[in-house]
Amino acid sequence: MPLKAELHCHIEGAAAPELVIRQAQKYGKDVSPYIQNGSFVWHDFTSFLKAYDFAADLFRTEDDYARLSEYYLTSLARDGAIYSEIFTSPDHATKAGLSPQAYTDALGEGMARAKAKTGIEGRMIVTGVRHVGLESIEAAARFAARCGHPLVTGFGVAGDERNGDIEDYVRAFEIAREAGLGITIHAGEFGGWESVQAALDHIRPSRIGHGVRAIENPDLVKRIAAEGVVLECCPGSNIALKVFDSYAEHPFPALLATGCKVTLNSDDPPYFWTTLKHEYDIAAEHFGMSDKDLTAVTRTAIEAAFVDRKTKAQLLARLNTGHR
Ligand code: ADE
Ligand code: ZN
Repeated sequence: MPLKAELHCHIEGAAAPELVIRQAQKYGKDVSPYIQNGSFVWHDFTSFLKAYDFAADLFRTEDDYARLSEYYLTSLARDGAIYSEIFTSPDHATKAGLSPQAYTDALGEGMARAKAKTGIEGRMIVTGVRHVGLESIEAAARFAARCGHPLVTGFGVAGDERNGDIEDYVRAFEIAREAGLGITIHAGEFGGWESVQAALDHIRPSRIGHGVRAIENPDLVKRIAAEGVVLECCPGSNIALKVFDSYAEHPFPALLATGCKVTLNSDDPPYFWTTLKHEYDIAAEHFGMSDKDLTAVTRTAIEAAFVDRKTKAQLLARLNTGHR
């Protein structure tokens, strides 16, 4: 089994239906519109976001969040992952009644517990959510810059790409960059290639969340390769959300062949009936990748990780020996 690393997973979106059902019982909520037969129910991006927001609202205390990150990183480690970056969302915490600092500390506590049990290294990327609005995105950037949590090493923007304009986020990203945080932005998922170009032009990220619709513009693909921007690809998510109709049409192999740096990620795993391991299996089955190819993908992820140089060297050494 190749060792793995994940750069793109929304922690609220990593809660399995069983866990969400347990939280709903704890808070006296009815899950039936959103979970049926042990599976999340949604039919398009808008209804996916609604189910996601419903489930996220069931994580309300520090203990809820600590258990969530401990559970997710432990399950990743079981599947051969040595490194995990999770997207955190101060907006979801605030909505659920917890301060961003208490939420971040709790997630960090869960990550520390998972590390103690399994050795998995983890970091957090604070995100702003486009459909919540510009002010909240800037507030998330300010929080990320000042929170001082040692595991917060990045800032990103997620949410519905049909809301807002990438240019409007320049100030938020400048706040994060000045604080020394790594920069990633969702683009080229529901936005076309133009959104990826706008991200490169205005935000200058080292990584792009998804980015796969860059394939619609060959010159842009060449630019991504030339600039060494890393794409956080989530093939299972893209197929579930119908960004592409089938794995045969997914651009992962074409992007790789053009020299783009690509990684494999689960995004919101149970919503898309996937796991990080399943993404590696998809790449083996549908994109013809060998274990050696997959290990190279893990290396790309670790090289692009928002982690200090010493930890990165240790992770690369673990990868090179093949031992966790
Ligand atoms: N938030 C959680 N999952 C997302 C996705 N796939 N795209 C944009 N925002 C998200
Ligand atoms: Zn995402």
